[in-house]
Amino acid sequence: MSKPHDLYWHRGTVTRQRREELNGHRSVLLWFTGLSGAGKSTLAHAVEERLHLAGCRTSVLDGDNVRHGLCRDLGFTEADRVENIRRVGETAKLLVEAGVITLTAFISPFCNDRARVRSLFQPGDFMEIFCACPLEVCETRDVKGLYKRARAGEIPHFTGISSPYEEPEQPDLRVDTHSLGLEDSVQAVLDALQERGIVRVERAALPQGTALSDVLG
Ligand code: ADX
Repeated sequence: MSKPHDLYWHRGTVTRQRREELNGHRSVLLWFTGLSGAGKSTLAHAVEERLHLAGCRTSVLDGDNVRHGLCRDLGFTEADRVENIRRVGETAKLLVEAGVITLTAFISPFCNDRARVRSLFQPGDFMEIFCACPLEVCETRDVKGLYKRARAGEIPHFTGISSPYEEPEQPDLRVDTHSLGLEDSVQAVLDALQERGIVRVERAALPQGTALSDVLG
């Protein structure tokens, strides 16, 4: 799509930096990628829960949910997935500008699309988190019953079956969701946030004696 020629950028006085100062933490985009059933949504929401308890402003954009609204006109052809990720990247950019720690859970199977989203952000504002889980494990779990239907030929272009998933070569963080428990996976993400000075772990700590399972229900 061509660039708009007759449009001008309006610069507001309330900047991202001022919003971050008000919030008491930096904003960032945590981009979770991986196969369907790899645990992206579970992990993103569990991390959000911890950050929220610590008083951070957060928002999760989730593939299945976003496809009910913003991207309801899109399917799973390569072109539609490219557009899906483009829209989500732009939406996430608005949220990060708004000072919100933004977590996205999309298969986002193509390296180029993920790189394009990264290019919208300053270095350090985008973290690619690879939820690594072998296809066999996702397929055995088959929480939504979609792999079975895809194998039966009922769902075309199904990622891992009839459509490719390009693994990140250099993710900012790799979480082996098949072997690491949820608590440890959450902690790995929180540690990475602390290392980058985005949020301190003590801010993100659960109240003493609270298990993640208590707050996730
Ligand atoms: S993406 O490839 O464009 O990033 P997205 O994360 O939005 O995908 O949506 C994936 C979700 O849509 C899956 O978790 C699954 O529930 C559902 N789905 C339906 N059809 C397909 C398909 N052909 N391939 C993958 N996921 C599908």
